[in-house]
Amino acid sequence: MSTVLKVNSITQRFGGLVALNNINMYVDDREIVGIIGPNGAGKTTLFNIITGMYEPTSGKVELAGQDITGKKPYVIAAMGFARTFQNIRLFGKMSVLDNVIVGMHTRTKANLIDAIFHTKRKYREKKECEEKAEKYLELLNLWDLRHEYANSLPYGCQRRLEIARALATEPKLLLLDEPAAGMNDRETDELLEIIKKLKEMGKTILLIEHDMKFVMNICERIYVLNYGELIAEGTPFEVRTNQKVIDAYLGKEE
Ligand SMILES: Nc1ncnc2c1ncn2[C@@H]1O[C@H](COP(=O)(O)OP(=O)(O)OP(=O)(O)O)[C@@H](O)[C@H]1O
Ligand SMILES: [Mg+2]
Repeated sequence: MSTVLKVNSITQRFGGLVALNNINMYVDDREIVGIIGPNGAGKTTLFNIITGMYEPTSGKVELAGQDITGKKPYVIAAMGFARTFQNIRLFGKMSVLDNVIVGMHTRTKANLIDAIFHTKRKYREKKECEEKAEKYLELLNLWDLRHEYANSLPYGCQRRLEIARALATEPKLLLLDEPAAGMNDRETDELLEIIKKLKEMGKTILLIEHDMKFVMNICERIYVLNYGELIAEGTPFEVRTNQKVIDAYLGKEE
């Protein structure tokens, strides 16, 4: 099995704060891996480093064996990472379908000349984009809503739309930052079923999530961060029964 993501000794300081201290982790091809940890543990910071939004104080990030540390976010995205954000970031006044198509733009080949002269290539690419976007909307149970404005969708659907948009770029690794946050039980269960489907399709996913039921249900392996330290890693069972993890969640002082 090949390794898609490798995080090597990543440290991130913000002034005097050590947001991440010497973190090592990996994600293999076709794995669903979780990151959990209390608020402020450094989870989103790690995503920001992986996707090139922050340059780490030290350490290295590899995507499919290539060193991508310090590369620009758009370069990294084009190399095969796609993410969703902790807070919804959609184009509210655009249709659901267009929100997905916009996300695919980094990957299309049509250039400025094509855009101006409406060449055949441009037309063909537009068609392909639409078909692909519709495929992912169907997968996320959003196809019926494809012509609606994004901001008219219920909250749970908006969160799924973000995932559809990220998936449509066909990334090597999909990063989800709290995909179930704010969802009710029914929406969470629906999302769980969708992620199970993605797993069957062979997608590789790294997800941050507070909802324990969700994480324990879907992840093969879990990393636990607390105050910037990696305090545990292992299967859901190993993590759930780890004393350090239990203490971190109960807020016990060391
Ligand atoms: N750009 C920044 N500048 C300064 N401090 C930051 C910055 N980004 C994050 N931090 C700090 O780093 C720590 C980790 O934040 P981070 O957002 O990664 O936590 P998190 O685990 O995602 O928490 P949550 O579960 O609340 O989303 C926090 O103390 C936060 O205030
Ligand atoms: Mg966060």
